[in-house]
Amino acid sequence: MALPSARLRTRLFDIELQSPFVLGSGPLSYDGHGMIRAHKAGAGAVTTKTIRDDPADNPFPHMAVAGRDSMVNAEKWSDISGEAWVGSEIPRAKDAGVVVIGSVGHTPAEAEHWVSRVDEAGADIIELVSYQEATLVPMIRHAKSVSRKPVLAKLSPNWPDPFASAKAALAAGADGLTAMDSLGPALRIDIATARPLLGGSRGEGWLTGSAIKPIILGHVARIAAAMEAPIVGIGGVMTAEDAVEMLMAGADAVGICTAPLLKGIEWITKLNDRLEALLEKLGYASIAEVSGAALANLRGPEDMEKFGFRFDPGLCTSCGACVRSCAYESRTLEGKAMSVDERTCRYCGLCSSVCPTGALTLER
Ligand SMILES: Cc1cc2nc3c(=O)[nH]c(=O)nc-3n(C[C@H](O)[C@H](O)[C@H](O)COP(=O)(O)O)c2cc1C
Repeated sequence: MALPSARLRTRLFDIELQSPFVLGSGPLSYDGHGMIRAHKAGAGAVTTKTIRDDPADNPFPHMAVAGRDSMVNAEKWSDISGEAWVGSEIPRAKDAGVVVIGSVGHTPAEAEHWVSRVDEAGADIIELVSYQEATLVPMIRHAKSVSRKPVLAKLSPNWPDPFASAKAALAAGADGLTAMDSLGPALRIDIATARPLLGGSRGEGWLTGSAIKPIILGHVARIAAAMEAPIVGIGGVMTAEDAVEMLMAGADAVGICTAPLLKGIEWITKLNDRLEALLEKLGYASIAEVSGAALANLRGPEDMEKFGFRFDPGLCTSCGACVRSCAYESRTLEGKAMSVDERTCRYCGLCSSVCPTGALTLER
């Protein structure tokens, strides 16, 4: 395994991570072996599948794609026992050098059963996750009373006010936040059979991957702008560019789950290599430097200044996407001759946003 570069090494709490990528709780960390694979591929830390009192029985099937780079899933918590996690799987991962985040869910009683045991088994960080906002605070209070390890509270985008949930979690003693879990309920239907693609209750599942990224970024930025605590930003990061966006929104480390699921665990190695090259190109020397880089630009008043367009005919392929996407019929393209009717253009920006080659950009 090629070690990630020095530029990618970072810290979460006081713990050194070989890269900012944290494998989120999910199928790839189904046991110690899965966690070691992720570590060898270059993950900075690896979160266990969520540990509860009873192993999960998952419906069949419980994962399906949902458009490009997104998925729905009806997978529950860990399908191996808590005893196996604390008896062999966490120690095995620790022996192999994995930075282990022990995920414990979903009720206060289960936190009482598992937090101290997950801590004693060697987890470096405890992550608490709940389906219901109201149970997270007592889980955090319990964890802080029995463990000296840093506690991450995992937030859900399905709760009515994740910003308030973040505040409540930190006030209860959480040391940091994992933002966020999957979004739903979500549904996909097989049109050949009119049956749901997933076998869960009502066929419902939870959406992850690219489709949720803008929502997660919005929550991460709001929380990061107002609160000091470290944030593991997770949701929809598929590429190095996505990771930089997540860091710029205020994340300190970048969670990934759907990306290595769809692209294979070795994708983490590629993400590290590409992030290294991208940070160099953008002029950032460290993860700490890029973390929160956009926050100052999110504080201003609404931008009411019209911008100009820059057009580079050398990059234009005459694909016509800019013309087709103009709701106001303001843009015309003849060959590579571009023009815009300034009387009807509303400066919405969509034409440049859909340009696949960067030929049409905004001057702001
Ligand atoms: C199949 C699957 C199973 C998951 N299982 C868990 C879990 O057991 N515990 C948990 O906290 N999050 C679980 N998650 C949520 C992920 O950790 C993560 O928060 C979410 O997928 C968003 O990140 P992504 O877009 O990079 O996948 C699961 C996600 C997927 C796709």
